[in-house]
Amino acid sequence: MSEPEFMDGAACPIEAATRKRRGFVATILMLFGVALGYGTGALHFFRYLVPLGRGGKKREMFAGTLSEMPVGKAITLKDPRGEEITLARVAEDRANPAAGFKALSSKCPHLGCRVHWEAAHERFYCPCHNGTFDKNGIATGGPPAKEGKNLPTFDVKVNAETGWVYVMVAEAESHGT
Ligand code: FES
Repeated sequence: MSEPEFMDGAACPIEAATRKRRGFVATILMLFGVALGYGTGALHFFRYLVPLGRGGKKREMFAGTLSEMPVGKAITLKDPRGEEITLARVAEDRANPAAGFKALSSKCPHLGCRVHWEAAHERFYCPCHNGTFDKNGIATGGPPAKEGKNLPTFDVKVNAETGWVYVMVAEAESHGT
């Protein structure tokens, strides 16, 4: 069966309207795709600009108990992203036990060697090039001090009732979309 002819040979108005509507939907979908693409790109760019561990969602990572961590003791932990953290109990603070802890990245900001806590000297030490940091992670000697590179720090929380100690760490990167 042939399609009906209209006076001026134009296509059926219903078909023309359907084509117009399809074109409109296709344009909307294309604009949505472009916006999604640019939005995702902008998000990745923003995350690149924000230093690791300083932005994003944080969560408590259990580190031990107060009784397991006497003053002078230091332990090494791994956060969900695999970054090593040195947690040291540097002082006794009965009113605010968390204030007696220091949690710093174990990775030297000079060339990435592993630093450790030296209770006797009250400092973090990097054996690779004799880099030293005070208990707050501030570089005090060696190449890190010359370059003004301090150890990244992490917040510590202590549950007053249970005496459980937590380090606040960034969530692991999600690669799904
Ligand atoms: S890598 Fe730590 S001082 Fe050089």
